[in-house]
Amino acid sequence: MASEPAHDLTATAPAPAGFDGPRHVAIIMDGNGRWAQKRGRPRLFGHHAGAQRVREVVECCPRLGIKYLTIFAFSTENWKRTQVEVAGLMKLFRRYISKELRELDKENVRVRFIGDRDRLDAKLIQLMDEMEEVTRNNDRVHLTIALNYGARDEVARATRLLAEDVARGALKPEDIDVETLPRYLDTRVLPDPDLVIRTSGEARISNFLLWQSAYAEYEFIDTLWPDFTSAELERLCRSYGKRDRRFGAVS
Ligand code: FPP
Repeated sequence: MASEPAHDLTATAPAPAGFDGPRHVAIIMDGNGRWAQKRGRPRLFGHHAGAQRVREVVECCPRLGIKYLTIFAFSTENWKRTQVEVAGLMKLFRRYISKELRELDKENVRVRFIGDRDRLDAKLIQLMDEMEEVTRNNDRVHLTIALNYGARDEVARATRLLAEDVARGALKPEDIDVETLPRYLDTRVLPDPDLVIRTSGEARISNFLLWQSAYAEYEFIDTLWPDFTSAELERLCRSYGKRDRRFGAVS
């Protein structure tokens, strides 16, 4: 099913600066609209400022020992926003890819996209394919951008693929266990997130990586996404390093 080999759980992240930090960080980048509103500017101004924060966060990952970074850029529910905001965001994604492609490649960052591409425009899909192709041999940081992503949608699409394999006899129902579904998810080549961060003071998951984050640690912080800094990420990673992850067992 997967076109590339599953993640190698034995691969080690670069040694972080003296603490046992998360290897995979996932971020719900929330608060762009309020950040812009506070400045009397349109919401898209906040999204543009938010896009600029992504660069700094990606750049500090190797130093913090973060090998995988997954960011929520557009959800399957975000289509409910005004046509102006949706069109502006789509234009921003196209511009972001065109502008950042060479830089991310130079930084040895591998970029992947997760989510349903069906509803995205052809030009954007072409740019996403190009970015994945150009960066496919990079491995310093694995950046995954969730675009038109919703966890329920992902599980529904995965179940459909799984059912097709059952229907054609490639999979037996009695062989399905907790290891099976992840092989059909968009994230099939990624390890599960260790730490999920949501900015802007909201304490909810909003349909992000529901299956994958079953045992993740969570941080809900008040900072609006355009104000988020590498120093704050470092603080959260250090705090993660002090947590006792038991995965249901006793320590
Ligand atoms: C949520 O803030 C943010 C989004 C729906 C868009 C996220 C997009 C970016 C951070 C910029 C682009 C990213 C890339 C990868 C180019 P909100 O609009 O819900 O803010 P609010 O809750 O304050 O209204």
